[in-house]
Amino acid sequence: MITGGTISCITFCHHKGGTGKTTTCLNTAGFLALAGKRVLVVDADPQANATMGLGIYPDSRRRHMYDVFMSVFEGFPDVPITEVITNTESGVDLAPSNLDLVGVEPSLYMIDDRAGILRDLLEPVRHSYDYILIDTPPSMGQFVVNGLVAADHIVVTIDAGIFALRGIDGLETIFGDIGEIVGHRVSADLAVLTRWGESPAIDAGPARSGISGILSRFFGRGGTREAGAGRAGQRRTGEDERRERIEAEVKRRFGRVETVPFSREVYEAQQRGLPISRYAPDSAAGVAYRRIAQEVISW
Ligand SMILES: Nc1ncnc2c1ncn2[C@@H]1O[C@H](COP(=O)(O)OP(=O)(O)O)[C@@H](O)[C@H]1O
Ligand SMILES: [Mg+2]
Repeated sequence: MITGGTISCITFCHHKGGTGKTTTCLNTAGFLALAGKRVLVVDADPQANATMGLGIYPDSRRRHMYDVFMSVFEGFPDVPITEVITNTESGVDLAPSNLDLVGVEPSLYMIDDRAGILRDLLEPVRHSYDYILIDTPPSMGQFVVNGLVAADHIVVTIDAGIFALRGIDGLETIFGDIGEIVGHRVSADLAVLTRWGESPAIDAGPARSGISGILSRFFGRGGTREAGAGRAGQRRTGEDERRERIEAEVKRRFGRVETVPFSREVYEAQQRGLPISRYAPDSAAGVAYRRIAQEVISW
């Protein structure tokens, strides 16, 4: 039945935004492609960050995942996923998304067997790729449910922020619900701790960038070097303990944990529409994502 290697569908999820789902999906995809694997990224998030992160401007495409999902409804054109897939510069193939995808979710609730729709829509390409990576939105809605039902493996991403552990119970709830749908226990194969090393005290949300971001990272917000250094010294000790605690708890819950250090190259690569494997493979985050891709290959 299987041609050309192990076919594996991997879904990246966390109902919180900014935990590194898209970043982890794209950069894992990039290193899998670099290792010679045939890789498809399915963007199941209306925000289309995975689409843009692979250098595709959503409006430049005529058809998107919206059209593929809407195919299941009467009166809409039949658009198989093969019709929306596009090559990208990094060698990763992409099923792009755009904001229209928002309109799919309410319609899905009209279908009884809605949880398996994406799994069925992927059927025509399951054997054309070694890996299909699904990026999901920060919600507990139908795209996440569909991504999890389609998945052979699940990766959860957890950011280094002060509320890092808050979402874990929610993840376990959703895995329990999916387990009832698919008829077996569902759990994450890997937890990725992202933006590790970025101090929450100076974390103003997703990836502070530019000169103010750089300055605040070194000196603390608005501080001088001395004042900043004093505070940073105290902060670092507490921070180390806090991170160790998070890491231990995540390991206890999920078993496998990888950490990806905070690295400005992540943001720069995304701005260029490339995975880090093609922009800065030897950066700290590049090395971490190469390791994650190797782990995925070992599954
Ligand atoms: N290791 C990292 N170093 C620096 N910035 C990162 C890192 N991982 C993620 N980011 C940044 O954090 C933000 C949120 O990440 P993203 O992957 O979009 O989260 P999600 O998809 O879960 O909402 C993005 O701006 C991204 O560039
Ligand atoms: Mg995202």
